[in-house]
This record gives sequence, C-alpha cells and structure tokens, in this order.
Amino acid sequence: MNKQLIVALSKGRILDETLPLLADAGIEPAEDLGKSRKLLFDTNLPDVKLVVIRATDVPTYVQLGAADLGVAGKDVLLEHGAEGLYEPLDLEIAGCKLMTAGVQGAEPGLARRRVATKFVNVARRYYAEQGIQADVIKLYGAMELAPLMNLADEIVDIVDTGNTLRANGMEPRELIATISTRLVVNKAAMTMKHERLKPLIERLRAAVAERH
Ligand code: ADP
Ligand code: PRP
Ligand code: MG
Repeated sequence: MNKQLIVALSKGRILDETLPLLADAGIEPAEDLGKSRKLLFDTNLPDVKLVVIRATDVPTYVQLGAADLGVAGKDVLLEHGAEGLYEPLDLEIAGCKLMTAGVQGAEPGLARRRVATKFVNVARRYYAEQGIQADVIKLYGAMELAPLMNLADEIVDIVDTGNTLRANGMEPRELIATISTRLVVNKAAMTMKHERLKPLIERLRAAVAERH
C-alpha cells in the first residue's frame, strides 16, 4: 500500500500562516513555495509531500483521497460539505467571520431578498433557517460591489476588519459563522494510515497550543 502522505495546502493568505505551524510540527518544504511555479513539493520528510492549490479545491482533494490531509478555512468547508472528511484540529489561523451585509442604513425588507455570494450553499441554508425567501446569485469575488450596482439587496461574505464593507458604503448585519482554518483528514486514510497520521496530528496540535 502507498504509505506516502500528501498534504493539500490552501494557497493565498492561509499559506503564510500554515507554513510556520507545519515547521513546528517537523515538516518543511524542500524549496521555497513562493519562488516556484511547481504545485507538488517534496519536504524534509521522505514520505510527506505538499500540494499547494486553490483553497476551494482542498476539500475535494481530501474527500476523494488524492490528498490524505488538508488545510482549509471553515468557510470553504461549510460550503463544500463534510462528507468523507474528519476535522480533527482547529489551527486557529486566518480568523474572520462569515456574515450578511448590506448598504449602510438600508432596511433589508421583508419580501424576497436578492443575495450575492460565492457561498451559495451556506447562504441558501442560512436564509431558509431564518424563514427568509432568498434568490441567491453566485459571484466569484468582489461581492461588496453587488448591492452598489443594484445586483443584490444583501451579500454573504467574509468580514475581518470591516474595511472592505466600509470602503463601499456597506455595513455588517448578521453573523452566520465564526471562521478559522481547520486541518481535515480523509476518513479512509485516518484508518489505513493511522499510525503515520496520529503523531503528525498530535505534533500539529502541540504547535497550535504553543501559540497561546
Ligand atoms: P480566496 O482567493 O479563495 O479568497 P484567500 O487567500 O483570500 O483565498 O482566503 C482564503 C481563506 O482565508 C478563506 O477561505 C477564509 O477562511 C480566510 N480569509 C479570507 N479573507 C480573510 C480575511 N480578510 N481575513 C482573514 N481571513 C480571511
Ligand atoms: C476578503 C473577503 C472580503 C475581505 C474582508 O477578500 O472576501 O472582501 O477580505 O476583509 P476586511 O473585513 O478586513 O476588509 P480578499 O481580499 O480575499 O479578496 P478576494 O477573495 O475577493 O480576492
Ligand atoms: Mg479572498
């Protein structure tokens, strides 16, 4: 059986905070990830390899077993669904909030709401739970623009400092979920490669705890 461990990392802002945690857990890329066009990297450990991919693709790689482990935002995991995945550890990095937001001072209104978001599954679930009729419009970025252009009445997006909302005349409304980055593990790998995975997860857990 293939005893290699493949770890799928989210590129972008999560990556910079992930690498020091991995280093503390004893895993270091064999070359500088930022300086390479490569996507698959060797590490200091002969049986561990890293892939660096779009954050939204990480759950897919891990769920389907192309990667054994992954690092992904809770927002991405909520949107993708948890089938085939364990989530054993909160890495406590890239903290932010998933919120609804709208134009400053505008009342959301009681009738059907047009909601622009890249988190369409999360949004549908949230508005259904609230008993609010919502027409969800899928966007791939710059959600904050949608209400200004009268494409939508409200958005569902990540809020951290609130600067992006403020800069576009918008305000946060309701909190949907508090977000941080999680370690995910393929369920089959957790059984088949348990002896190799367990100590690695525990070293990561210790690295997270050391930050406190
Ligand atoms: P993407 O191109 O997919 O938006 P990012 O690097 O911007 O990639 O974000 C990756 C993850 O970082 C998100 O899924 C979320 O968990 C977290 N995140 C996004 N925006 C922020 C933010 N402004 N502050 C902190 N964390 C964020
Ligand atoms: C993220 C998110 C918000 C912004 C929130 O965008 O989609 O637009 O950060 O952060 P703030 O509250 O501190 O302003 P990002 O910069 O990742 O852009 P993109 O994902 O649309 O490329
Ligand atoms: Mg982003």
